[in-house]
Amino acid sequence: MPEIRSIGVIGLGAMGAGIAQLAIEAGYETVGREVTVELGQAAADRIGHFLTRKVEKGQLEQGHRDAAVHRLMVTGELEALADCDLVIEAIVEELEPKRALFAELDRICRPDAILATNTSALSVTEIAAATTRPERVVGMHFFNPAPLMPLIEVVQAELTSDDAMEVAAAVGARFGKEVVRCHDTPGFIVNRVLIPLLNDCLRVLDEARVTPEALDLALTNGAGWPMGPCALVDLVGIDVHVHAAEALYARSRDPRMAPPARVVSMKDAGLLGRKSGRGFYTYD
Ligand code: CAA
Repeated sequence: MPEIRSIGVIGLGAMGAGIAQLAIEAGYETVGREVTVELGQAAADRIGHFLTRKVEKGQLEQGHRDAAVHRLMVTGELEALADCDLVIEAIVEELEPKRALFAELDRICRPDAILATNTSALSVTEIAAATTRPERVVGMHFFNPAPLMPLIEVVQAELTSDDAMEVAAAVGARFGKEVVRCHDTPGFIVNRVLIPLLNDCLRVLDEARVTPEALDLALTNGAGWPMGPCALVDLVGIDVHVHAAEALYARSRDPRMAPPARVVSMKDAGLLGRKSGRGFYTYD
């Protein structure tokens, strides 16, 4: 099994920045790529803030925090990932941009490098097929917020080698996560269950004529959820939820996967949840 020393992360939005934080905390030299260096630096600042909070709360030593921060290099250039042993992609959740990126990575990265996608609802097999090394392409599906959620699904696409699965699982374990391996089916394990469940919850808003507050109160107190469905969709991003639901509906034709009209309208209106300041709730 090839040793992983350096990790590239592409896309430093909520998921990518969380993954980069895990990589530097686990001791990997990490290259984070954003569209511009300025966006990359903003993500690095957010990561630095979360690590400072861990120091303030006694969860991390100052020296370890500073060393971790120094392990992150941000760049606007894809070529800067040429020497990475493992690249984890966390860009927009759309097939064609991901396939174009993987074709480019296939050209830039060493032939033995492993390429991982954080896709939550697209086919890893279709993404891998854009490269000449599908045996080295694997799914590494993190959950939002990545530094706090304990699970990673390691996904075996049609041609993924056992070796690549081992590498991804070992890195996930070094990130401190519980790793569950599965095959490349629509939604893998968690989203196969969670997306239709959240859609059901959102339909109940209209059917039972309850407010988001009341629905969230019901599920947190009546079902033991750590946060209510409306707060969760706001956290994940209304646009991300709609995209994932549409992708799963397209692949499964299961009507429960289709996003309810209400959240599609919210997405179209730019009510994206926490990241836009307004979704089911409003945020400062
Ligand atoms: N990155 C790094 N650190 C973060 C962070 C982030 N994004 N968000 C919060 N933190 C840190 C903060 O420093 C925070 O401490 P301070 O507020 O003191 O600074 C610390 O973590 C703890 O935060 P909270 O007090 O908010 O933690 P909590 O105990 O309330 O738990 C939670 C928060 C883990 C999110 C919990 O509410 C939970 O488990 N919610 C359910 C989340 C869930 O189901 N996620 C899955 C979404 S589905 C998905 O991701 C799949 C997909 O493909 C779309």
